[in-house]
Amino acid sequence: MVETIQWTDSGVVMIDQTRLPREQQFVTCRTYLEVADAIKTMVIRGAPAIGVAAAMGVALGVQEGADFDTVCKTLAATRPTAVNLFWAIKRMRDLWFSLQGAAREEIVQSMISEAQKIRIEDIAICQAIGRNGEPLVPDGKTVLTHCNAGALATAGYGTALGVIRAAVSAGKKIDVFADETRPFLQGARLTAWELQQDGIATTVITDNMAGHFLHSGRIGCVVVGADRIAANGDVANKIGTYSVAVLAKENGIPFYVAAPVSTFDLTLASGDSIPIEERSPDEVTHVFGVPVAPEAIAAANPAFDVTPARYVTAIICERGVARPPYEESLRKLAQAC
Ligand code: MRU
Repeated sequence: MVETIQWTDSGVVMIDQTRLPREQQFVTCRTYLEVADAIKTMVIRGAPAIGVAAAMGVALGVQEGADFDTVCKTLAATRPTAVNLFWAIKRMRDLWFSLQGAAREEIVQSMISEAQKIRIEDIAICQAIGRNGEPLVPDGKTVLTHCNAGALATAGYGTALGVIRAAVSAGKKIDVFADETRPFLQGARLTAWELQQDGIATTVITDNMAGHFLHSGRIGCVVVGADRIAANGDVANKIGTYSVAVLAKENGIPFYVAAPVSTFDLTLASGDSIPIEERSPDEVTHVFGVPVAPEAIAAANPAFDVTPARYVTAIICERGVARPPYEESLRKLAQAC
């Protein structure tokens, strides 16, 4: 399986997700500013992967001897929606404060070790999500997914794709429909690529085909990832997720969200207060630099939407499966250790 991100002696090495699937190139970030840029430009993307990158960015900043507050603020300003970014920075920040008074070399080594630990933990968390979610996947059917919630969006294995991988490993005869996920095409470029590498039968569909197939009787369940989950179970995920959830409910198909506890934001009562990133209109009006709309036309580009909890059949995390009422079930899982 692909190595999404790694700490090496020469810096933080990431596979460049803007070039996939045409080219497999790796980028080495040697400074925290380069990590911030990689997150902003989506060289690395996906909530848990962004968290790991931010933790490694903080460690690089400490190694460089940069001002700690500036490092944390710069990394926190890269993307607003995925809460894993802020979770990881807070974890690194708490450690840094606890180390004050120690020798500089000890502080640097401890910060690097913590960032590496977050990466290793994330892989184990995804595997646990896979184990918890696998029993929910019906045998002999197609699983529909949106965006990329796979190995590329995490430190490895994936959340939604972790559930699919676990179902395949358990011997279930399933295949996958991957929404292409306009405008950034994470489904067509990334999900299709990594499932093909694993030999899991995958069909790419354009986003507007989802309703047709959800009505066809072929889809057994929908599994997606998440960028932030509010206390009431509202889920922010890639733009287009909400439409898929409504169509799934209309057709009586279970809609599952797979995400680590670090994606829960129980400080927010509902999804209404989740900040939604607005990206450049060029991503909508252009495809790989080629204009597909009239010059100077206005375009909107919210990168995420919020699926109301009433459309979410269950939320699968590393500690178990939460079902409605989510206020209670998410709190219990967040507190469980
Ligand atoms: O803009 P992106 O590509 O970072 O958005 C990613 C998603 O919305 C994923 O579905 C989500 O982060 C879950 S990743 C395990």
